Amino acid sequence: MGFAVHCSWLAALLCLHFFGGQVCCNCTEEKMEIEGGHYTLTKQLQKGSLLIYHCPEGYYPYPVMTRLCQHDGSWRKAPRKFTPQRCRVVECPDPTVMEYGEVSPPQENYFVNNETTYECYSGYTMRGSARRVCLPNGKWSGSTPICGRESGHSCADPGIPAGASRAGNIFGIDETVKYSCNSNLFLVGSSERVCLENGQWSNKEPACYYKHTYDTSLEVSQAFGSSIRESLTTLESLNDTQAGKMIRISKNGTLNIYIAVDISESIEKEDVNKAKKAIITLIRKISSFTVNPNYEIAFFSSAFYEVVNILDFFNEQHVKRNTIISIVDNFKVGQKNTGTDLNLVFKNFLDKMAFIKQRVGTEQFKEHRHVIILFTDGAYNMGGSPVPTVARIKNMVYMNHTGEQETQSREAYLGLGPKHYFRIKAFEELQETFDLIIDEEEVKGLCGLHKEYKEVTSSQEARNKYPWLASITIQNKDGSTKCFGSLVNPYFVLTAAHCFTFGDQPKDVKVQIDDGQGREKKVKNFILHPKYNITGKKDKGVPEFYDYDVALIQLEEYVQISSSVRPICIPCTQETSDALQLVGVSTCKQQEELLLRNALERVSFLTKKSGNLVDEKDAHAKLGALRANCIKHALEAPNITATDPKVAVTDNFLCTGGQDPFRDHVACKGDSGGAVFKNYENRTIQVALVSWGTKNLCKWESGKVESDKTSRDFHINLFRVVDFLKGILGNDTQHEYSTLEFLKD
Ligand SMILES: *[C@@H]1O[C@H](CO)[C@@H](O)[C@H](O)[C@H]1NC(C)=O
Ligand SMILES: *[C@@H]1O[C@H](CO)[C@@H](O)[C@H](O)[C@H]1NC(C)=O
Ligand SMILES: *[C@@H]1O[C@H](CO)[C@@H](O)[C@H](O)[C@H]1NC(C)=O
Ligand SMILES: *[C@@H]1O[C@H](CO)[C@@H](O)[C@H](O)[C@H]1NC(C)=O
Ligand SMILES: *[C@@H]1O[C@H](CO)[C@@H](O)[C@H](O)[C@H]1NC(C)=O
Ligand SMILES: *[C@@H]1O[C@H](CO)[C@@H](O)[C@H](O)[C@H]1NC(C)=O
Ligand SMILES: *[C@@H]1O[C@H](CO)[C@@H](O)[C@H](O)[C@H]1NC(C)=O
Ligand SMILES: *[C@@H]1O[C@H](CO)[C@@H](O)[C@H](O)[C@H]1NC(C)=O
Ligand SMILES: *[C@@H]1O[C@H](CO)[C@@H](O)[C@H](O)[C@H]1NC(C)=O
Repeated sequence: MGFAVHCSWLAALLCLHFFGGQVCCNCTEEKMEIEGGHYTLTKQLQKGSLLIYHCPEGYYPYPVMTRLCQHDGSWRKAPRKFTPQRCRVVECPDPTVMEYGEVSPPQENYFVNNETTYECYSGYTMRGSARRVCLPNGKWSGSTPICGRESGHSCADPGIPAGASRAGNIFGIDETVKYSCNSNLFLVGSSERVCLENGQWSNKEPACYYKHTYDTSLEVSQAFGSSIRESLTTLESLNDTQAGKMIRISKNGTLNIYIAVDISESIEKEDVNKAKKAIITLIRKISSFTVNPNYEIAFFSSAFYEVVNILDFFNEQHVKRNTIISIVDNFKVGQKNTGTDLNLVFKNFLDKMAFIKQRVGTEQFKEHRHVIILFTDGAYNMGGSPVPTVARIKNMVYMNHTGEQETQSREAYLGLGPKHYFRIKAFEELQETFDLIIDEEEVKGLCGLHKEYKEVTSSQEARNKYPWLASITIQNKDGSTKCFGSLVNPYFVLTAAHCFTFGDQPKDVKVQIDDGQGREKKVKNFILHPKYNITGKKDKGVPEFYDYDVALIQLEEYVQISSSVRPICIPCTQETSDALQLVGVSTCKQQEELLLRNALERVSFLTKKSGNLVDEKDAHAKLGALRANCIKHALEAPNITATDPKVAVTDNFLCTGGQDPFRDHVACKGDSGGAVFKNYENRTIQVALVSWGTKNLCKWESGKVESDKTSRDFHINLFRVVDFLKGILGNDTQHEYSTLEFLKD
């Protein structure tokens, strides 16, 4: 089975066979055994069942890889008496095609683990690998060795890949070289390369594959992934200049992804499920970038079944990614369909593109990128050749641009620039491939992205899980105060105002975040919420009043963002909408409804543990009707004489604690200022920060301590202090630091 990306045309090729006719008999397992391996059946011995041979690594099934049970009860291909089915040692294509050099050892055939070394004749210099090993997937390690000589040609000698021959020995501009593969091999990639004006050859080097040659998941993901990554990250380019001025995100580009899966009869139901899984993996991966692509997802055979309509994304419907995923997941293949009408697929995609272009206008359409991902056997047997439709799509996307200087913009429109062709071994590997495609760690600037561990056992793992965590120490004449904080952008740490006392200076404040540039960060300034006034309600029976208990610490220098140092998501920012997969124009209210929607909303906060480790505490914010009962215990706090709990606990607080219906953890002194957060998939969103509580149940400053019946904690709800956050973090005139994009409403 193969897997191909051509520009953005990706096709997963399945071994596919067609047949028709009446049901007659079942097949038998007689003479089906394979020496050195085993086989599996997709539908037992019924017609249409595919018998798949399996061999250990480094071997492949010979003479055939699969057999199909036909309606008359016979196998195609039928087993042959004189060539029994067996596992054969994997062979690599002939490397001795190299010009102007020696290959040693010279052999008739090269098998798995055979090593070769390459040397150039005098006067020639080598590019590529001087030593190559034949790998279990039937490919040579390293890259094609090429012996070249200064020739005055515009392009360098393109060499000859193993197993191939090349026509064309002139390497001047516009000259073409053509490749073909020797017997038993087929060509993967583009058979022609043209010497371009920039001295480079067009296309990638083609390769010669045996029937048993395949690309490993890693190879596919590296090649396909880097192009997907490029197209996604240029949409969302991180411009972190040396001056550290700003991280700006261009949101202008739109990515349209069209996915079609062949479900014609001969592809097994299991395979459809695997394809669905792979699609879901891919959607999940792509959404870990801040982009929200528009998706067209369809299944097809002789008919076209639309699963997700891309036009919905343009009708300002809020299509959530999770919705897309469940639609894909729930799709059931109904009646059996034979035939593969590839043309129909392309026609549908072309129609959609035309609609989109009409809808957004030609100018805006130029900002759109299109990626087509196709899972099929590629053998269109109905509806005619898709080639003309593909050409029309290209025209549509390329805007019929022609001429030299357009080459670059063409590729930009298509998202996936270079051409890739892949062949993978089995459908299972498709998902693995997509799993590997996008390594989230390479994506910087995404708030709240983190790694999950079953158990955090090292400080490095703690950083990867809570990359936004900051420890704050304030040292003044009265001693030292320890608090937690959270990184909200590369320059700012969010914490509680009560960590500071009157008269504290920036130099008294130490922030610890280990970004590899030194653990201790110098503080430039800190800003308390202007409405924070601890004595504000002294005369109303609340000796210590913690309303607006929030502060921002500005660092002297920005921290280096990495997988272990990364801001947390905070409410009412576009970044958070992206993390929550809110598509289109979203509002602060939508975010709040998503994050604090249930009467009991599970939240977490951190406490220090020995070493550099932290423990996660669980609590439940009592919202709606449950809130009044929660906050009334504020009156039991020492020295509060007010009779209305709302005097001490304004609407700006979330209330946690108690044992009903869940036994919450309570906050200890050192937990102050820390993030009260929720995870949404792989992203962490801070909804509040630890402020004050009614009882001190902790023996030490920190620890995982459980609540008693009446103990309550109150946390500043960040949704209620957005103006303060926005005024500082979203102030566009402050080019000194990166600004967050706050939502309009
Ligand atoms: C074929 O095998 C299936 C079970 O594998 C059985 O139900 C069916 O009756 C068989 N058909 C014939 C024609 O033997
Ligand atoms: C190449 O591999 C084959 C099969 O494993 C082995 O029999 C042969 O000895 C190897 N040749 C060399 C030169 O290593
Ligand atoms: C980054 O920003 C600087 C100045 O703000 C600009 O000169 C440069 O071209 C930008 N780089 C990218 C890749 O956008
Ligand atoms: C983004 O789009 C807006 C309007 O749609 C336009 O004014 C602006 O120049 C575009 N920005 C870039 C970087 O293309
Ligand atoms: C591109 O050119 C073809 C003819 O070469 C024409 O039929 C088609 O309409 C053109 N497409 C656009 C988008 O202009
Ligand atoms: C993201 O979350 C999924 C489960 O939702 C998990 O399997 C995956 O490992 C996570 N990725 C990272 C980078 O933590
Ligand atoms: C705090 O509140 C008290 C009582 O309302 C008031 O007297 C005092 O001026 C306030 N302090 C600040 C800094 O606003
Ligand atoms: C309560 O008030 C008394 C007297 O003002 C004081 O000594 C004590 O520390 C206060 N308790 C708390 C927990 O603040
Ligand atoms: C943004 O920052 C500038 C400079 O510090 C300040 O003058 C301005 O008032 C701020 N704007 C807002 C909306 O806070």
